[in-house]
Amino acid sequence: MSDSRVPRSRRFLVCEPRHFAVQYAINPWMHPDTHVHVDLAQEQWRALIDAYRAHSHTVEAVEPVPGLPDMVFAANSAVVVGGRVFGSLFHAPERRPESTHYDLWFKAAGFDVHRPESVSEGEGDLVWTGRYVLAGTGFRTTREAHREAQEFFGHPVISLTLVDPYFYHLDTALFVLDDTNIVYYPEAFSPGSREVLARLYPDAVLATRDDAMAWGLNSVSDGRHVFIAPQAEALAARLSDHGYVPVPVDLSELHKAGGGIKCCTQEIR
Ligand code: ARG
Repeated sequence: MSDSRVPRSRRFLVCEPRHFAVQYAINPWMHPDTHVHVDLAQEQWRALIDAYRAHSHTVEAVEPVPGLPDMVFAANSAVVVGGRVFGSLFHAPERRPESTHYDLWFKAAGFDVHRPESVSEGEGDLVWTGRYVLAGTGFRTTREAHREAQEFFGHPVISLTLVDPYFYHLDTALFVLDDTNIVYYPEAFSPGSREVLARLYPDAVLATRDDAMAWGLNSVSDGRHVFIAPQAEALAARLSDHGYVPVPVDLSELHKAGGGIKCCTQEIR
């Protein structure tokens, strides 16, 4: 069965955690007194980049900026579909300056950037499925931004309400496996949003709170390989049963800031 899963090579944008730190708390995972080991964070992050390259994905990097400790979480800076770049307007004032640096990278790479008028945190909350955008709200990205994204992309944007503060971004509670299926943790969503997901994805792989707390939902799939936190062992085993190939990559140092594999990875489509 596992031979039936076909990988598609991706173009990723990342940012080295050279200036990574936990200096403020804007989600329940962050404690400002936490000591982070920058060397270990860099080592773990490089292992992720090596794993992507070893699986034939293209990785490009934005230069990190001192004083912007969360800039490593590249997924939050934009969502790109069909070459259209929908930039970000961060909820936290501490993160707002990141946008300037990412926007400059996109411009230099030949893209125009649309700056949203309402709070929007890129792929953290706006997840492209191959047919439409699943969009999280409740903690960061607003419904106004969902409407703006639909107008901008001309693709349906489906609003989903997140209810658990530990899963404050959609990409902490759900990820796309391939063009037809997703994995998600139902209890992270409001009852109505759960129903929407059940109708759209009747065959979805359902995750538990333990899977989600182990950062298992913050994974990146290329259609066959699933780059996943080794702490999410149980979920990885279920994905193997479904014919996917888990590739464990440990970003434990970055978990201290409330981020994991997907948070560090933006896809350029
Ligand atoms: N400290 C960052 C924040 O709270 C972590 C962002 C994680 N990114 C993600 N895509 N979930 O904004």
